[in-house]
Amino acid sequence: MPVAPRYELADGMRTQVAIIGAGPAGLLLAHLLTRGGVDSVVLETRSQEYVASRIRAGILEQSSVDLLTSVGLGDRLRAEGHEHRGIYLQWPGSRHHLDFVDLTGRTVWVYGQTEVQKDLVAAGTADVRYEVAEVALHDVETDRPYVTYLDREGNQQRLAADAIAGCDGSFGPSRNAVPAETFERTYPYSWLGILADVAPSTDELIYAWHPSGFALHSMRSPTVSRLYLQVPNGTDPASWSDDRIWAELALRLGHGQDGWKLTPGPITDKSVLPMRSYVQTPMRHGNLFLAGDAAHIVPPTGAKGLNLAIADVTLLSAALISQFREKSSVLADSYSDTALRRVWRCTHFSWWMTTMLHTGDDPFDAQLQLSQLRWVTSSSAGATGLAENYAGLPIGF
Ligand code: FAD
Ligand code: DHB
Repeated sequence: MPVAPRYELADGMRTQVAIIGAGPAGLLLAHLLTRGGVDSVVLETRSQEYVASRIRAGILEQSSVDLLTSVGLGDRLRAEGHEHRGIYLQWPGSRHHLDFVDLTGRTVWVYGQTEVQKDLVAAGTADVRYEVAEVALHDVETDRPYVTYLDREGNQQRLAADAIAGCDGSFGPSRNAVPAETFERTYPYSWLGILADVAPSTDELIYAWHPSGFALHSMRSPTVSRLYLQVPNGTDPASWSDDRIWAELALRLGHGQDGWKLTPGPITDKSVLPMRSYVQTPMRHGNLFLAGDAAHIVPPTGAKGLNLAIADVTLLSAALISQFREKSSVLADSYSDTALRRVWRCTHFSWWMTTMLHTGDDPFDAQLQLSQLRWVTSSSAGATGLAENYAGLPIGF
């Protein structure tokens, strides 16, 4: 579909949608708008290389894969990504496989956020201005919102738009431009995440409850593993030697249990990730729309952050295309409520997975967690609930 023309004005540039942030939400939104014939410009504070190399999420839900495939972004994903039927849940002495295909007919895919980002850049559908500074939003409650910023050369710029999409994550300026009610939960633990040049020791992800703390065995490819350990808040990654990390992973993941072995390898990246639940409502103020981490944060245990960002911009692009091409504001007016239904479902699921699997020093909590794990792995009702949420409900649910 032809994209509406872009105008150069005497006092700056005009586009239909000014998008703040070139993470997965911002770049995918630009891609979907371009396909729908709506013009956009994306502003990003970081360099293209920095954004492309940030190691973050690794699991795509079925509906994210279907969406990416339907908009021409599925070729490398389907060739190089890995489809998983389910996950393992375990605690000392027991490992159980939950088969999402048997339970819900849906699968998940291992495909890193870095790869999704590369595919979006390769599509060439987004006009991104990287390394901008001092991004400020103006008059968002009017029909003439605009953004001011310093370009890469340090020149003051003005970008006028019909709508602004705040896709600038949890530290960007967009969320503060929406008068909102906020809901928040912090957790008394973080994740120490590593990337290692070693073949995964498992065919599908292992989520492990252990008295010493939660551990997760994930992966990126047949030669690269991604693993996580629950650690106290404020942990310095440098205080964990490679040997200590592998020893703790072996303990928590059950090395030796029923003959299973964890193979260690060279660690290429080590970082600590704090955990938080946060939701801001509404996700719209006038002509400013929030999407992705700009509106909500989930703890990573349910693998939902990236998938929620994809779901948000799928809804938002449809709303903006309908507003600009069909002059209908129905979808734009319902965007916040529709998106928030899924946001709260994923917020609950992420909180539930997190609190079921992370251990503390309360023995009562530990017994409740083990009881819940036994139920989820032995009752088809319990297993189906987890599978339906993990593999993902349809976009628009
Ligand atoms: P982001 O990816 O944060 O993108 C926002 C973009 O806006 C960034 O490129 C940023 O540089 C830019 N920006 C910020 N301020 C400005 C500004 N003033 N002007 C212009 N641009 C700006 N999820 C999982 O499911 N599993 C995981 O393992 C996982 N690990 C994570 C690890 C870390 C360290 C973090 C921070 C998140 C992790 N997540 C994980 C969450 C997942 O990566 C996010 O949910 C996802 O990146 C959201 O995409 P987004 O585009 O909304 O936000
Ligand atoms: C990964 C991260 C998660 O938070 C998760 O639940 C599963 C996998 C990952 O980085 O591979």
